[in-house]
Amino acid sequence: MTNATDSAPLLTGRNLTKTVQVGTQSLPIIKEVDITVNSGEFVVIMGKSGSGKSTLLGLLAALDYPDAGDVHLAGQALHKLSEDELAAIRQQQMGFVFQSFHLLPTLSVAENIAFPLDIARRPDPSRVDALIEAVGLSHRRDSLPAQLSGGEQQRTAVARALVANPQIVFADEPTGNLDEHNAEQVMQLLLDLRSEVGAALVIVTHDAALAKLADRVIVMHDGRIQDS
Ligand SMILES: Nc1ncnc2c1ncn2[C@@H]1O[C@H](COP(=O)(O)OP(=O)(O)OP(=O)(O)O)[C@@H](O)[C@H]1O
Ligand SMILES: [Mg+2]
Repeated sequence: MTNATDSAPLLTGRNLTKTVQVGTQSLPIIKEVDITVNSGEFVVIMGKSGSGKSTLLGLLAALDYPDAGDVHLAGQALHKLSEDELAAIRQQQMGFVFQSFHLLPTLSVAENIAFPLDIARRPDPSRVDALIEAVGLSHRRDSLPAQLSGGEQQRTAVARALVANPQIVFADEPTGNLDEHNAEQVMQLLLDLRSEVGAALVIVTHDAALAKLADRVIVMHDGRIQDS
């Protein structure tokens, strides 16, 4: 990653609006949000419970369609793509880490980490080995998720998110289910690996210490980005 690309816009959300149907009423939960994430940038999203953080992350990560507005990733208009096209972009260009790990229960640590490369038909066993080593799970490579501690599961998820060298990684409270020690370890790995890959990182967290490390902190309030 060169310095020239580091300040270029990678992901842009413009005028993003998301409405949910509650009974007969249509309630906006994301309201005309504008947001840009540059290549390689580390952005933290904070805000009270219910302020719209997870919904916004879902729109940016093309896990959900906005009702109005648009999302562009590296010049591609995501809101115009079909589910299949979006799935391909998520596979090839994005990484995800969720609060509740989301590992595939029937696959081993090594198979879970290899999964993004396998579905893209780009198997790379030495890359998988390097990631297993980097997250300290060489002794657990053949274990199933249910046989792992929470910290080990999330380290697996972090390795999986980065294995295919995504341009951007989205994380929604990735340390929310971990104790302080494991939370710190997982965050450090996420930050180290994303630096190595040169990926941008957009992370929803309540952790003020983590926010201090970010290039930029965005605070959500009632479906909007609060003025900083
Ligand atoms: N499918 C839905 N139907 C109705 N309301 C919804 C739906 N999804 C989200 N909401 C509401 O939208 C608001 C924003 O939800 P969201 O999950 O984005 O908040 P959040 O900031 O991530 O909160 P938390 O910190 O608790 O995870 C909340 O008031 C939530 O109840
Ligand atoms: Mg949330």
